[in-house]
Amino acid sequence: MRLFTTVAAWRSYSQACHNRQIGLVPTMGGLHSGHLSLIRQARNGSDLVVVSIFVNPLQFGPREDFQKYPRNLEADLALGRENGVDVVFAPSVEEIYGSEETGNTETGLSQQTCVIVPDSLTSRLCGASRPGHFQGVTTIVAKLFNLIQPNRAYFGQKDAQQVAVIRRMVADLNWPIEIVACPIIREASGLAYSSRNQYLTREQKQQATVLYKALQAAGRRCGEGVRSRAGLLQAAQEILARVPGVKLEYLELVAPDTLVQLETVEEIGLLAIAASVGNTRLIDNIMLNTR
Ligand code: PAJ
Repeated sequence: MRLFTTVAAWRSYSQACHNRQIGLVPTMGGLHSGHLSLIRQARNGSDLVVVSIFVNPLQFGPREDFQKYPRNLEADLALGRENGVDVVFAPSVEEIYGSEETGNTETGLSQQTCVIVPDSLTSRLCGASRPGHFQGVTTIVAKLFNLIQPNRAYFGQKDAQQVAVIRRMVADLNWPIEIVACPIIREASGLAYSSRNQYLTREQKQQATVLYKALQAAGRRCGEGVRSRAGLLQAAQEILARVPGVKLEYLELVAPDTLVQLETVEEIGLLAIAASVGNTRLIDNIMLNTR
């Protein structure tokens, strides 16, 4: 496994990689079973698996956890090696966005160009409480696509809105990259793996399991034939109400591609939730499929 921390080093290596199918797994590190499942899928579908590890300051709000976000490159490299990763690309913030001296005073970074995906996709759900977040995501993912030039890129369905936003960007900007959305990996308790689970105490981790339980309750209600937004959300809310420590941010039923709110599930609906447990913000979702 090779580690590159500069654009120049990656570029000189990749010039010798003609005709190899490159699979990219973009991450912010703190690798867990969710990330590893993306790596496994990339391993099956590519000759060269590249994992990027970059805690992207552009996608964190001023009061968010950029400083304390889990960073452990050594542990991530060991997991990469064990899981058949060929290349880890782990640049510094300066390498990616330039140094502060020439910079944009608001962000403190020299990068001034951003990729903006329409508000209809980025301002609802997570975008409502995290203004600028998806612009940060699309900007870094666009840069990674240009730098790595993958044939396929792997993203987790856990961040369903991120997948919708990136698919839109790739279609609109004509990137010849296949976006592969991978299923959500969960702990035995049902809690979706997340780097932010490290912030939770044991008790909070137990409380956090209510997110998936609530989604499952709505899933069962859908299985019983309930199709209305009100009926499905109510099934989830009844379960959430049992755990007062969990502060709901949103619970929404939307179309998976456009993220438009659905009043009824005709064929497929994305039921998405965001909630805080203590100071930790968690998200989860399930697909309701009536076919
Ligand atoms: P990060 O949170 O590190 O996640 C990297 C990838 O792993 C994302 O595509 C995410 O959806 C996926 N993932 C996380 N937890 C998962 C789980 N439990 N099951 C399946 N997949 C899971 O998402 C980001 O980083 C960043 O926004 C990034 C795309 C790297 C841009 O900075």
